[in-house]
Amino acid sequence: MSQIIYLNGKFLPIDQAFVPVLDRGFIFGDGIYEVIPVYSRHAFRLSEHLRRLQNSLDGIRLANPHSDAEWVDLLGHLIEANPTEDQYIYLHITRGVAKRDHAFPKDAVPTVFMMSNPLVTPPRDLYENGVGAVSAVDNRWDRCDIKAIALLPNILLRQLAIDAGAVETILFRGGILTEGAASNIFAVENGVILAPPKDNHMLPGITYDLILELAAANGIPLEVGQFAEARIRHADELWLTSSTKEVLPITVLDGKPVGSGKPGALFWKMHALYQEYKNRVMRAG
Ligand code: PDD
Repeated sequence: MSQIIYLNGKFLPIDQAFVPVLDRGFIFGDGIYEVIPVYSRHAFRLSEHLRRLQNSLDGIRLANPHSDAEWVDLLGHLIEANPTEDQYIYLHITRGVAKRDHAFPKDAVPTVFMMSNPLVTPPRDLYENGVGAVSAVDNRWDRCDIKAIALLPNILLRQLAIDAGAVETILFRGGILTEGAASNIFAVENGVILAPPKDNHMLPGITYDLILELAAANGIPLEVGQFAEARIRHADELWLTSSTKEVLPITVLDGKPVGSGKPGALFWKMHALYQEYKNRVMRAG
């Protein structure tokens, strides 16, 4: 079965889908996106993803082209049209096609694109050994809460990790932890989870919220605050979270071991809680 995508009202094989060169997504990066994991053909935390989609649209002053019910329907069709049980949906909306001009076009129709790819969650050895990260100054704009398709700063920052043989770049703005180039970051210090606040300096991760919920429901102490670089470097554990990577332990930062250099006890606890939650919700769904 070939990969079926959705573009502006049509479900098509991906090699038959085209966007005009004057699309503002292509010309300006003028659009927003979502990444939604699908387990056993059920979209995970869908209402939370649709809420964040609305916030991103509000952030760029673009009307939502669909109601939530329409999104649910379109997503259901896309999930059924693609072969694997576990998928991740990339959903992308731009301000549409118009003569190149920075000003918002008056009559452009938003471009809506969705594709599904197989979701492969991290292999066991990544949990057992953890992954490496590097650090960098967070030089992105001041609206990191918008899930904008214009990702050049994130791409350049993440490539620093790839160039160093690591997986993620941990960002510090004015010496304070914000997030990763493509993930949220948590630390653990003396049995307490430390989390940066959901403000304009980070993407409000759907996985981030679930970690906070699971910590609260299971009596794990958690502190939301501004955490200085030195504190993060001396943390007992570091984790990264995202919809496609779930929760992963970071065991090396800038070539030095994090804590014991092995995934910590609280990581294993959160990993188990996350898997348990996922299985419970997917069975109920
Ligand atoms: N990225 N912060 C940034 C900058 C991200 O790009 C992502 C996810 C996250 C985690 O958010 P969530 O838990 O909702 O996935 C945080 C996605 C997966 C991507 O761009 O592919």
